[in-house]
Order: sequence, then C-alpha cells, then structure tokens
Amino acid sequence: MKRVSFDTIADEYDETRELPEDAMNKVLDALCEEMPQGSSTLDIGSGTARFALRLSRRGFSVVGIDISEEMLGISGRKGFDRLVRADSSFLPFRDAAFDFALVVHVLHLLEDWVVTVAEIRRVLRDSLMSVVIENEAKWFGESYHDLLREHGYDKDHPGIGEKGLAERVKPRLVKGVASVTHHQTADRVMDRLDERCFSSQWEVPEELHRAVITEMREKYSGEEFENCYDVLVYVWDVGQLDELVTEAR
Ligand SMILES: C[S@@+](CC[C@H](N)C(=O)[O-])C[C@H]1O[C@@H](n2cnc3c(N)ncnc32)[C@H](O)[C@@H]1O
Repeated sequence: MKRVSFDTIADEYDETRELPEDAMNKVLDALCEEMPQGSSTLDIGSGTARFALRLSRRGFSVVGIDISEEMLGISGRKGFDRLVRADSSFLPFRDAAFDFALVVHVLHLLEDWVVTVAEIRRVLRDSLMSVVIENEAKWFGESYHDLLREHGYDKDHPGIGEKGLAERVKPRLVKGVASVTHHQTADRVMDRLDERCFSSQWEVPEELHRAVITEMREKYSGEEFENCYDVLVYVWDVGQLDELVTEAR
C-alpha cells in the first residue's frame, strides 16, 4: 500500500499546523474531560507529538505511533519518547491494550483507512477521539486547489478524513471547543504552498505547481486576510466502530 511520507516537511510541520495556545488548551480540556486521570491512550499518526506530549504532561499514559522517522525524531527532541515506528494498518499491540485512542489529521492520508479503523477498534477498550477543524469560510490557501482544478487537475487525498468517518458513523459526542481568528499574510501562506508544506500538494506535477504559484503570487501578493475556524472534538464509543469494521471485512 502506497504511503504519504511526512519526512520531508517534518521541520515545518508545527509552524504550519499548530493551534494558538488558548485553543489548544481548550482542546486538551475537552479531551481530558472524556478520560479518567491516568488512562492509557494511543495516538495514531502522532506526528510531532502535538497532542501526545501535552496529554502526557497532564498525567495520561500516552503512546504515539507514526510511520515517519523524521516526525518521530522531532517528538523525541521535544521530550516525548513513548513512541513506536509502525504503520497504522498493523498496530503492534495486543487486543484491548489501550483505554482511549486519538486520531487527528490522519485518515485522509490512508486509502485503506478502514483497515486502520479496524486496528484501532481491536486495540481499544473505551473510546476513539479526534480533533477536527471546520473553516467558517474557505481558507485562502484553498485558492491553490481552485487553480489546480481550473488547470484540469482534480486529485484529492486517498482517504476519508476524520470528518468523513463521522459521516459514516455518527460520533457519540461532537463538541465545539474553540473559535479561532487568525490573521495571515497571503505572501506567508504562498511561501508555504510554494515549499509544498501540505500533503495535498505532494503529487502535483512540478510544472503545474510552478504555474499555479506564479498565478497566485501575481493575484494576491501583499494582501492580508483572516482565517476563521472552529475546533471540534469528536468522540466515538468503541462499540460504534463495530458495524463499519464488520462491513469492511
Ligand atoms: C497531518 S500529520 C498529523 C500528526 C498529528 N496527529 C497532529 O495532529 O499533529 C499525519 C501524520 O500521520 C502519519 N502517518 C501517515 N500515514 C501513516 C500510517 N500509515 N501509519 C502511521 N502513521 C502514518 C504521518 O507520518 C504524519 O506524522
């Protein structure tokens, strides 16, 4: 199975994806409300330990798994080292090994996402949680994909994303935890797009990528805009995943 590698953008990951600290604290409060103190949690696709590190500091027994050596390396350097390098479609843990599981911004990357959900279900005792971003208005960076489509390129991520999972299996809890307004300059975002910091860009042919970036710079250079989004926490009881997993077998 083909895998999307984050190795090449590991160093830029936190800068481009980090939530403001007050929003992050509200997310952590909401996650912690669901988990009795000391619960064991598996963070699948833990990346740079954005969540794993902070949850472990709040007293949870967290293990992170990720396929990317570079992302795991950054986690380790931040001081979070309860890490396993593994593919989420084959979790190296016994059945019902963890009370909780967390999966954030991962399922869109996996063509065989249902195999990962089945594996999560297998190692889980209580609930699966996720953190989902909902943009109030289209984010400026989406213009890149609009222009790609105008050029006839319309490939998307291979998986369904955690929002897609929620459309298949309604979460037991959907909780809005923060609303963020983030001022950005178009040039800063275009620099990040130019460097292909986002996984949706990694398969775009270089010539097309250059053409779209040039068009964007001509159109938007010097502009500023607001990125407004809501942050939600989703929770599924473990049993809710059974139907989906059985259906997929
Ligand atoms: C967008 S990042 C999300 C990281 C983290 N969950 C967060 O929200 O900051 C996706 C992560 O999933 C990892 N990943 C992708 N495919 C994977 C797989 N098949 N098994 C394990 N990890 C995977 C990537 O290496 C990357 O670190």
